[in-house]
Amino acid sequence: MNIVLLGGPGAGKGTQSEFLTAEFGMLHISTGDLLREAVANQTEAGVKAKSFMDAGELVPDEVILGIMQEKFETSDLSNGLILDGFPRNTEQAIALDKMLDCLGAQIDKAILIDTPNDIIIQRICSRRMCKSCGHIGSVLGMNAEDAAAYVCPDCGGEMYQRDDDNEATVQNRIDVYMEKTAPLIDYYSKQNKLAKVDGSPSVPKEVFENLKAVLE
Ligand code: AP5
Repeated sequence: MNIVLLGGPGAGKGTQSEFLTAEFGMLHISTGDLLREAVANQTEAGVKAKSFMDAGELVPDEVILGIMQEKFETSDLSNGLILDGFPRNTEQAIALDKMLDCLGAQIDKAILIDTPNDIIIQRICSRRMCKSCGHIGSVLGMNAEDAAAYVCPDCGGEMYQRDDDNEATVQNRIDVYMEKTAPLIDYYSKQNKLAKVDGSPSVPKEVFENLKAVLE
């Protein structure tokens, strides 16, 4: 099964993708992760993307579509696919359909993780990412001492805060989501592929149980 995960910044797309990969062995492709890797490696795409990402704006379509085309050509898609952060606008959704069509595949479901903005802002400002394995963690509810000592619960690696995880950038990311990405809810709804999951429960596994229910 090939799934698109929709939802605002910090809605829980990456967290739920980790669960989906662990339980079903699906391939998780996050354009945010691919871009952060490109920025860290200072590739041509990474250099072009950096200023857009820091401002919370969408990276130009030609950069993203080039990255995704290469990713599809070099990946094994046979266990199914989770797309996290892609497509981000209608042009990308149409291009995705064409790319998959060439591979004899299609999107089976688009799942909207619906999380209110006040929760999103709180979660994003508390998010920490593992430098070694990419695990997504959080210091929400920790005191300053515990937050400073926080290491990756999966591999013990160093946790860091993303450059775009600050309150000022988050508000713009929410605005960009509403203007450019939210129309995809309608795009997939018209194809009878849309399902909605409440992203607000504060226990991620609870969200996952609801997500699994809509997949069945
Ligand atoms: P990207 O990396 O895709 O960021 P995003 O869409 O803003 O989404 P996030 O990664 O911030 O959030 P998430 O929904 O994955 O939440 P998470 O699970 O981590 O994109 C970054 C930038 O790259 C964009 O702004 C843009 O510039 C560029 N870009 C990327 N793709 C692009 C594209 N296709 N086109 C153009 N530009 C593109 O959860 C957040 C936090 O909450 C974590 O700390 C987590 O532990 C915690 N959490 C999750 N669920 C729960 C829960 N149920 N209860 C409590 N805490 C929870």
